[in-house]
Amino acid sequence: MEIDERHLEQRRIVSKSMDDPNHIAFNLLRTRVRQAMSDNKWKSIAITSPTPGCGKTMVTLNLAFSLSRNPGLKTVVVDLDLRRPSIAPTLKIEPDRSIAQYLLERSDEARDCFVQVDPNLILGLNSGHTPASSELLQAPRMLELFDYIDRELSPEIVLFDLPPMKSSDDALGFLPRVDTSLLVVASGTTTTAEVDECELQISELDKLLGIVLNKCEDAQAEDYYY
Ligand SMILES: Nc1ncnc2c1ncn2[C@@H]1O[C@H](COP(=O)(O)OP(=O)(O)OP(=O)(O)O)[C@@H](O)[C@H]1O
Ligand SMILES: [Mg+2]
Repeated sequence: MEIDERHLEQRRIVSKSMDDPNHIAFNLLRTRVRQAMSDNKWKSIAITSPTPGCGKTMVTLNLAFSLSRNPGLKTVVVDLDLRRPSIAPTLKIEPDRSIAQYLLERSDEARDCFVQVDPNLILGLNSGHTPASSELLQAPRMLELFDYIDRELSPEIVLFDLPPMKSSDDALGFLPRVDTSLLVVASGTTTTAEVDECELQISELDKLLGIVLNKCEDAQAEDYYY
């Protein structure tokens, strides 16, 4: 499936075209994530945040485009924000079938929920609002989805875009199923208490790879031209 690159830049997805120097930050993140995952033989990583709007989907997609540019680094992204899915709208694509429908057993074929947007990048999409999402994320059907991803898509790395931790127990309930996670926090919005609380909860599960500080005002784009 083709995606509209002009639309991507409007939504701050800069790691596909690489015209915007901000994509360098995602290459740095990509390399650090890749090294840690490779050292630990990890494959799956969740992206969450304390509260809504910190930039989880933006970070997930930029990281995914950056990772998938590496030859042979097959990357799968799964939108598991079942309450407010935003991968498809951010990329302006319409899924035929959603991950939620598969988890609700209204759709038998997991492959119908996935689209390939780059040679190395496959996305599992969602649409609409799904009630009882926490239970769905912990249901046995989720294991069938993991099995499908592993067996049929054979990715090197799988990124899960999760809901915020303080809005529901969706993220906390799902975290035991991944190898590690990134906590995205927003400068000027996320409080120190929120960072501490989420960091503690994720660390108790031993799933915290790191914290991504987003929406900083003082990033130095000139460094790119160095
Ligand atoms: N570094 C940034 N600078 C300015 N705006 C940003 C930045 N990162 C994200 N945004 C904007 O903030 C909004 C929220 O971003 P995004 O949808 O990625 O957050 P989210 O954490 O996934 O939100 P939700 O909790 O609703 O899923 C979007 O409009 C996005 O373009
Ligand atoms: Mg989001």
